Amino acid sequence: MTDCGADPGGSAGNRRLGVLISGRGSNLQAIIDAIAAGRLVAEVAVVVSNRPDAPGLERARRAGIETAVLDHTAHASREAYDRELAAVLRRYGVALVCLAGFMRRLSAGFVSAFPNRILNVHPSLLPAFPGLYGQEQAWRHGVRVSGATVHIVTPELDAGPIVAQASVPVHDDDTPETLSARILIEEHRIYPEAIGVVLDGGWRVQGRRFMRVGGSRAAGSAGRESAP
Ligand code: GRF
Repeated sequence: MTDCGADPGGSAGNRRLGVLISGRGSNLQAIIDAIAAGRLVAEVAVVVSNRPDAPGLERARRAGIETAVLDHTAHASREAYDRELAAVLRRYGVALVCLAGFMRRLSAGFVSAFPNRILNVHPSLLPAFPGLYGQEQAWRHGVRVSGATVHIVTPELDAGPIVAQASVPVHDDDTPETLSARILIEEHRIYPEAIGVVLDGGWRVQGRRFMRVGGSRAAGSAGRESAP
């Protein structure tokens, strides 16, 4: 794992986001709302969906954000798809790529084109329950606490350095749906916050650890957990 300096975009002041979606886009909406409310200083330069019918595209259009549909079924290979995806994101000059329910694995080539500049939000406390249906995996396992994680994307699935986490209780009468809803509230809270932290710079990745220079408290957990 490489170390990373204060400006992950390599171009000071660039706070342009490329948000990748496949579905309903509630995390996209949380990012849009955080920007509108002044809680996140950033600009969504483009929203890209691999599905032409993703409801999240309408959320982007309503907010006046440019959209692009890159249908994966129209591409011969993952690498070919990812090359075109990278070209679109470069065309929009994005500083940070934010996966928001983007239901595709990204190739090592794509990840290395945006080193330490791709974030994902996952509905469990990683490294527990990576992959699909993290909420249901946690519910089936019978854990008493689950939550949400924002992490830097590496070629390994859901395994990159953790930028922010938030926990939620699991109740006896929960269903996968009620637990998912409780986790989603935390996703919407910590994802914009973590994006701001990464855009602000002043952090580095050491080994697996995402560390803010000066040792500030991690995003997401602030205010929720007692001091160490
Ligand atoms: C979220 O639960 C996120 O954690 C996972 O996919 C879901 C996307 O939901 N990666 P939405 O499209 O943002 O509403």
